[in-house]
This record gives sequence, structure tokens and C-alpha cells, in this order.
Amino acid sequence: GEAENPPIRRLTDWDTGRLRELASEHGTPLYVTDPERVAENCARLRAAFPDADVKYAVKAHTGRAVLETVREAGLDAECASAGEVRRALDAGFSGDRVDYTAVNPPARDLDAVVDWWGDHPDLTVTVGARDTLDRLAERGYDGRVCVRVNPGVGAGHHEKVRTGAAPKFGVPYDRAADVVADAREQFDVVGLHAHAGSGIHGEEDLAAHRDLVARMGELAREIGDDDIEFVDVGGGFGVPYREDDPALDIRAVADATREALGDVAATLAVEPGRYVVADAGVLLTEVNTVKPTPEVTVAGVDAGMTDLLRPAMYDAYHAIRNLDREPGADASADTGPVTVAGPICETGDTFCDGRELPIPERGDLLAVGNAGAYGYEMASTYNSRPRPAEVRLASDVLRARETLAGVTRLEHGGRDE
Ligand code: LLP
Repeated sequence: GEAENPPIRRLTDWDTGRLRELASEHGTPLYVTDPERVAENCARLRAAFPDADVKYAVKAHTGRAVLETVREAGLDAECASAGEVRRALDAGFSGDRVDYTAVNPPARDLDAVVDWWGDHPDLTVTVGARDTLDRLAERGYDGRVCVRVNPGVGAGHHEKVRTGAAPKFGVPYDRAADVVADAREQFDVVGLHAHAGSGIHGEEDLAAHRDLVARMGELAREIGDDDIEFVDVGGGFGVPYREDDPALDIRAVADATREALGDVAATLAVEPGRYVVADAGVLLTEVNTVKPTPEVTVAGVDAGMTDLLRPAMYDAYHAIRNLDREPGADASADTGPVTVAGPICETGDTFCDGRELPIPERGDLLAVGNAGAYGYEMASTYNSRPRPAEVRLASDVLRARETLAGVTRLEHGGRDE
């Protein structure tokens, strides 16, 4: 019921006192992750899709605590690389709960996954090109295969993540039945797959999603829907990033998905990433520089695009709270247009530009919302910046803060294995 299954968490729902304690104990920039929130999101998905196979798109957050939580919540793992497959297996997912979605897979990844397949003969490889089938066969693989289809329909929050219509992904829809027929000669073809894109939100995206699902239903019936186990219609379910964005009605999306699929003997599968983890993480960063300018107040902070890339890469909006200037608190301040800018040498290295926020003071602690999905995962060491630490809301360190020695280790004969 709703009580155990509360709605999406907003940045204002986080306990300010707790976030402050964590920042003073561990320093900033700091990712704070709440696996309990991940469990709630999984439960909401399971309730919305009771008969479906719900897989977690591991790429959104690969941390061990998150993976274990997702596994215990009964979701499967959809992996984008051999590295993610390894993490899923290490987190205790059995092979039958692991899908490897191989996009132009590097030889090293195929070698590794085929090797692990020996111990986990029930894992599934999702293939989006005939070449990938051939390369699997060359390695002696004759196991479970899912054929990824290019549905010709894209959706998502930014051009760069609308995968559905991009020729890069999947076999062309019109050739899919032929590829399935050929694949059946060498492999155990267990499913069909397509993914519209990431951040499905709003009517236009939902319409595209329904189109995609309907096309996949048709294709499944064409190739024989009782000869496959599942039809995976991808992930991409959006979460509200703006304070006033409505949350996606996931039950309504689920109902529309089932309806669009039509009568199909195979199981429906979905593979959300963001929806599982976005609101389970915040990024904490400290203001170290306050600079009044004619247009805006620049709040210089210790996190940058190297810690959270989404604003720089997709112009993504993330809610920001100044935990030291909450409305009503003693320290509450006047508001004005504030640009929150990181330490990186690029103009794009800002978390917001001229957003109406409390005018900060040096030392203020800011929280950036929805940092749980594609946050830490996309961190880099550009500008020789060590990657931030990640802690669990309840206490322990999940990923230690990187050091400069960590950043330079590969130049000193270090090994990363
Ligand atoms: N399945 C496939 C095949 C995918 O490529 C993706 C995302 C997903 C599932 C999960 O999508 P989600 O449910 O998380 O939206 N870095 C970007 C997002 C890139 C997503 C790439 N593929 C961002 O920060 O918005």
C-alpha cells in the first residue's frame, strides 16, 4: 500500500540536520545515498508492474549497496558492459537475473562475459547487430540471446539520450524478424528488446513510449510470441527534477504499457535505471567563494562538472537547497539570482545560472537533488580532480574519497585490477 510505498522524494524531504552531520564528518563534495529509498522505489515499480520482469539498469548507479538492495527487492540486473555484469554477479545476482546489453561490445568485454557464462549459463546477452551474433559464435557462445530492435521511435529529456531512433542501437525494425530467424539457428533466442530513451516525462514522450511498445508487441506476434520468454520495452521512466514537476504516475504508465503491448504470450519486461535511484541521492557541496556581480551572485562551490556532469552535458536542471539559509531559519537571507559554479576551467561548469536562491555566504552547505542517478557514475578526474566520496545516509562510507595518488596511479606503474 501507499504507506510502505511513498511517492518520489523531493529535495525538501531530506533531513537537513543529518545531511549537515555527514558533511562535517566526511567533508565535501559528498554524495549521500539512501538505499532504503532505493528499496521503496523498487517496491513501487513491482507494485505497478506485478506480472512483469523488472530489471534495474545498473549504469545509473553501480554501488554495491544499491545493487544488493535492488537484488533483495527482487529486480533483475540489466548491464551495459562486462564491468557491470561483473558487479552484478559480485553483488549476488544469479546468472538468470543478469542481462548484458552489448552495444558495439569491445572484444575484451565479450571475452569476459563468455568466460563468465561458463559458470552462469543462464545469463542473457542482448544483441543489436549481426556482427555481435557472429562474434559471440566465434567465441563458442550458444546460450541465451535477446535481439535488440531499433524501434524508430525515440523519447527522453535530451537529444543525446533519445536512443530509440538512433541508428547506433538495435537492428532495424524491418530486418528484425530475419535476424531473429538467423539467430535461432545458433542461439537460444529468449527475447526482444527496445529502449526509447532516458527521462520519459510528459505526454509526447509517453505517446512515443506507447508507440514503441505497440511495435514490439506486433513484432513479437510476428516472430512467435510463445517462442520467446520476454519482450523488454526498455526503461527511461522520468523523475521530477524541477520543484514543481509532477511525478510520473507509474501505475498509469504500467497500465498503458500493458495495453499497448496487446496480447502477447511472453512476459513484459522493463528496465528502468533513473527511476530506481535518482531521488535516493543528493550531492553536498560547500560554498567557498561569494562574488557579487552586476547580473548575479556567483556562488563558487567545491563540487564541479567532474562530480556531477548532467548540468554541463545536458543542461539538466537539478534542484538546489542552501541548507544554511532555509526559509524561516535564523540565517534566512534575501534571495536573488545566483549562479552556482564549480572549480573547473569551463564556462559550462555550473549547477545553475541566475536561479532565484538565497544569497549565500562563504561556508554555506548546498544540497543538489536527484543526484542518485548518473551522478557518481559519470564522475571524472578532469583537471586532476579526485572523485568525491559517497556515504550512506545512515552512516558508513560507500566509496572513499579519491586521492591525488589515486588519480595518478596509472602513470606510476599502478595496476587497476
Ligand atoms: N536500458 C537501456 C538499453 C539504456 O540504454 C538505458 C539508459 C536504460 C535502460 C535506463 O534508462 P533510465 O531508466 O535510467 O532513463 N546519462 C544520462 C542518461 C543516459 C541513459 C543511457 N541509457 C543522464 O544523466 O540523463
